Amino acid sequence: MARILITSAIPYINGIKHLGNLIGSQLPADLYARYLRGRGNEVMFLCATDEHGTPAELAAAKAGKPVAEYCAEMYGVQADIAKRFGLSFDHFGRSSSEQNKKLTQHFAGKLDEAELIREVTEKQVYSNADGRFLPDRYIEGTCPNCGYERARGDQCENCTKQLDPTDLIEPRSAISGSTDLEVRETKHLYLRQSAMKDQLDAWIDSKKDWPILTTSIAKKWLHDGDGLQDRGITRDLDWGVPVKKGDQDWPGMEGKVFYVWFDAPIEYIACAKEWADANGKTDADWERWWRTDKGADDVRYVQFMGKDNVPFHTLSFPATILGSGEPWKMVDHLKSFNYLNYDGGQFSTSQGRGVFMDQALDILPADFWRWWLLSHAPESSDSEFTWENFQQSVNKDLADVLGNFVSRITKFCRSKFGEAVPEGGSYGDREQALIDELTKRVRAYEGHMEAMEVRKSAQELRAIWVAGNEYLQAAAPWSTFKEDPEQAAAQVRLGLNLIRLYAVLSAPFIPETTAKMLSAMNTSDTNWPDDVAAALNALPAGHAFTVPDVLFAKITDEQREDWQSRFSGLRD
Ligand code: MF3
Ligand code: ZN
Repeated sequence: MARILITSAIPYINGIKHLGNLIGSQLPADLYARYLRGRGNEVMFLCATDEHGTPAELAAAKAGKPVAEYCAEMYGVQADIAKRFGLSFDHFGRSSSEQNKKLTQHFAGKLDEAELIREVTEKQVYSNADGRFLPDRYIEGTCPNCGYERARGDQCENCTKQLDPTDLIEPRSAISGSTDLEVRETKHLYLRQSAMKDQLDAWIDSKKDWPILTTSIAKKWLHDGDGLQDRGITRDLDWGVPVKKGDQDWPGMEGKVFYVWFDAPIEYIACAKEWADANGKTDADWERWWRTDKGADDVRYVQFMGKDNVPFHTLSFPATILGSGEPWKMVDHLKSFNYLNYDGGQFSTSQGRGVFMDQALDILPADFWRWWLLSHAPESSDSEFTWENFQQSVNKDLADVLGNFVSRITKFCRSKFGEAVPEGGSYGDREQALIDELTKRVRAYEGHMEAMEVRKSAQELRAIWVAGNEYLQAAAPWSTFKEDPEQAAAQVRLGLNLIRLYAVLSAPFIPETTAKMLSAMNTSDTNWPDDVAAALNALPAGHAFTVPDVLFAKITDEQREDWQSRFSGLRD
């Protein structure tokens, strides 16, 4: 069996994520991880919180908490919600971990040894009242172009003109409002990505099976305009990984930290060490996933992310790894997503627009959301969440097709044969035709899942559920029973076995429900149906089962309207 390393883009710590974030990386990564585990592969699925940078500092300030305390608390909140959504990370780490601090400093040291880092002196705005340098977007003032009074140092929101902080009339700190600002000189480290251009180019060219969306973004940054720019990897902030080369101080860089986009992807690696440390494992245990000199050469590494993350994963992070000159595992496949919109606009964290993960779970169980989001994943283009569409697909796919099938067959069996798989009769032509169709469809489903075609996988799975319903409708054991109870027994036996089969196939999409299905079928046999005919005999005659509670309650029009109006405003 294969070994697969899977990472999802690590979510920012500041605030609970919305459903658009969820479907953009973590949820499809979970689908893939669950599928591959179900097929018997060895999977390492890693994610973490992205805790550094100004947004974390400001969110903490807004919450009136020290930033470390704020991050620890929000980490707990995000970890809990991830668990309740069924995200099956092998480890959910933190980019602020000691492991990531050490590893980030290690990479910087290696890059410096390879002469890939240069020091640059820049001018930057310093706020005396705040006691810190201000990033461009945290300086506000009047726009010289249109007179808008709340223009930011990087851009005027009103007339869209790009600005320099020094262009602003009466500039002030967006943090404290203080106008006691001055321009000071400050030193920063730049990663000489330009020197690695050919190496990166060749590496991307070697990725023949990457989607065009991915390679075109990478190639654009490599070749357009000035090509690959050197990149500042340090900031004048308090919160972050202190700038050091390995464990040595970096003269002139005291009090500075690495830029959040430098240390965040390194957390993919550090997270594996966090996993090892948290589970009493050795360094060899995590290094076999990440070091090609220690066993990772036969690992397949797949990353999941939103499209805005692609440049960082195709260029910046690979530049860090390649530049280190060390044998780290590099990504083999990169699955990226477009955006999910919300009811005619965008989901927005800063504005609080849309449905957020905690709110979603307050109104419905995770599987409702997982099914809708995955079956509408924004793969080839952006997609949109509307409450009508949500109600419709959930009611049809989950309640009418899958839920109804399970309830009908179990209740019918209970009433006519009792709560055990009935004996007698045998599978005939109709059953063989179903087995043939399912075999074809299960093979197609496997193909789509392996190719990470999320929507196509959902469609195929739904077709597999539909096939069972159609069989039941045509075989009609409730009629057969009157003439030929033996044959009705065989039909019901097949139906009960289909429930187990559906549970195994559907587990990556709706794990909570499939666990209920398996427990109702009183089995822990989750063997993959390599042979569909054999799988439909897994539960033998006489095997006891119970009728499960309703698996999916339908969403009523009243509920839909209530939620629609409840989520039409903005969250604070
Ligand atoms: N926090 C970033 C975002 O949500 C993603 C970071 S991914 C990593 O867009 F590569 F930096 F880890
Ligand atoms: Zn303006």
